[in-house]
Amino acid sequence: MKDPLLEVKNLKTEIETDEGTLHVVNDISFHVNHRECFGVIGESGCGKSLTAMSIMGYVNYIGAKIVDGEILYEGKDLTKLTKKEWKQYRGKELAMIMQNPQTAFNPLFTVGSQVVETIRLHNKVTKKEAVKEAKKIFEYLRIPVERMNAYPFQLSGGMLQRIAGGVAIAGNPRLIIADEPTTALDATIQLQYLQFLKQIQRDIGASIILISHDIKVIAMMCDRIAVMYAGRIVEEGNVKDLIENPKHPYTKALLSTANLSAKKMDYIEPIKGQPPALYDVSDKCMFAPRCEVCDKRCIKETPPKVENGKGNYAYCWRLEG
Ligand SMILES: Nc1ncnc2c1ncn2[C@@H]1O[C@H](COP(=O)(O)OP(=O)(O)OP(=O)(O)O)[C@@H](O)[C@H]1O
Ligand SMILES: [Mg+2]
Repeated sequence: MKDPLLEVKNLKTEIETDEGTLHVVNDISFHVNHRECFGVIGESGCGKSLTAMSIMGYVNYIGAKIVDGEILYEGKDLTKLTKKEWKQYRGKELAMIMQNPQTAFNPLFTVGSQVVETIRLHNKVTKKEAVKEAKKIFEYLRIPVERMNAYPFQLSGGMLQRIAGGVAIAGNPRLIIADEPTTALDATIQLQYLQFLKQIQRDIGASIILISHDIKVIAMMCDRIAVMYAGRIVEEGNVKDLIENPKHPYTKALLSTANLSAKKMDYIEPIKGQPPALYDVSDKCMFAPRCEVCDKRCIKETPPKVENGKGNYAYCWRLEG
């Protein structure tokens, strides 16, 4: 079998605050195969965006730091790249579509000029060539080329999000990280946008890491899923197994709050209780205080990794024979 495109090994990312160290990404490992869509799901604050920003090399810009682990992209450790080397990777090999399209654009400039500038940032091309490339992107997005002269406020959220996606693929990246790409969109536009993501994945043969709160979005789009809780992955598996037969009590709780058969793409209801503060790095199961089947071992010792033979696994004492 071909090696995975991306392999994250024992990644730890921390943020120093006045109150202490926040362990926002706490020893996570996963891989993404070529041309697959890998989903990351979990409640707000569990470290999904910090995982994405760690992979993209953005954490330093927001005051966080990778303190351990490896992020191997085709065997090359991205955590060791210099700023100069990053220029060869960002936009060309890996690209990220940010959460909010409104903030991705400067309100004072036309969207066309911003697309052109982004193309020039990632490619050694003349302005004329970049304009030509930008027009191609608009045609690909099926957005009239005249709309390049519009300012962000003159376009709908859905259109802006598509343009942001178009900019991300301008360099034909092989890995696209889409962080909550549909949060800012209403239900019908959400669906269209997800179809658009699938289409770009097919057209450029990229792999996608799709981050979402919404299990329906993940179920529709992904091949495999990692479930995150309090900075850790608690379960990983292929989409069908994980949804039909979740193992970890947190995954079960997440799924039971979502009505997967409903047509409406609504958000999941919160699970009772609050996730723990990320200052705590004790070995206990982080979900134990909210878990309905928790026992003594769960609050004392690191839960074991229990595999089921198909690459699926969950960290839970209760799954031990
Ligand atoms: N710059 C920062 N300074 C301090 N804490 C931060 C900072 N950025 C994120 N955090 C904290 O790190 C944790 C992980 O944040 P992250 O943004 O990765 O969560 P998330 O899973 O993406 O949540 P959401 O679903 O709301 O986007 C959260 O507890 C958050 O409050
Ligand atoms: Mg986030």
